[in-house]
Amino acid sequence: MKLQDLNSNPPPAWDQIMVKCQEMGFDMASDEEAGSLLRALVASKPGGHFLELGTGIGASLCWMLQGMDHESDIISVENDAQLVGFVHSLFEKDPRLTLICEDGEKWLESYSGAPFDLIFADTWPGKYFCLEETLELLKPGGFYVIDDMLPQSNWPDGHQEKATQLVKLLNGHDQLFATKLDWSTGVMISTKKFIP
Ligand SMILES: C[S@@+](CC[C@H](N)C(=O)[O-])C[C@H]1O[C@@H](n2cnc3c(N)ncnc32)[C@H](O)[C@@H]1O
Repeated sequence: MKLQDLNSNPPPAWDQIMVKCQEMGFDMASDEEAGSLLRALVASKPGGHFLELGTGIGASLCWMLQGMDHESDIISVENDAQLVGFVHSLFEKDPRLTLICEDGEKWLESYSGAPFDLIFADTWPGKYFCLEETLELLKPGGFYVIDDMLPQSNWPDGHQEKATQLVKLLNGHDQLFATKLDWSTGVMISTKKFIP
């Protein structure tokens, strides 16, 4: 038996989101493994303050919302208005979610609120650029999570080098304890050190 053969008990919105992926031809959704990991991590931070960069179709978000307690909140940023519209229709009644339709880099430049307990960086800003600015927004003890670090069929030419560079950078970062998982689409979890 493989551990991953066991059902992860996806959140209620999961099936609807997967159908929408098919309809829209959206092939960038985070998978069940990454979703279940994010759900477990946010559940470890009651009253947590979370950030997702790259809402996409809401696949990773639905797991995080399920893992969060009532006192937690999450900001999710996406620049595609059609995707934001769909995700809004799914979760508009959830007061813990602030959904923002904006370029992630602009949002990062303008954010002046509290630091985050977990950041899931699933788009260019916060991952392949503005990385240090994003890590500045992480609390000590907070998690910085990325997926899609193993080669994916939808990667543009030349992306492998960027991915390798990012893995090395996080792995050797003096403010982080990083761990690498050759699992799901390739996941890294980095915890910000209390003592740099
Ligand atoms: C890998 S997908 C995110 C998938 C999402 N986590 C999910 O599970 O559905 C990356 C998303 O980032 C969005 N995006 C691309 N560039 C962006 C930018 N500069 N600012 C904000 N969002 C961006 C894309 O539209 C896409 O939906």
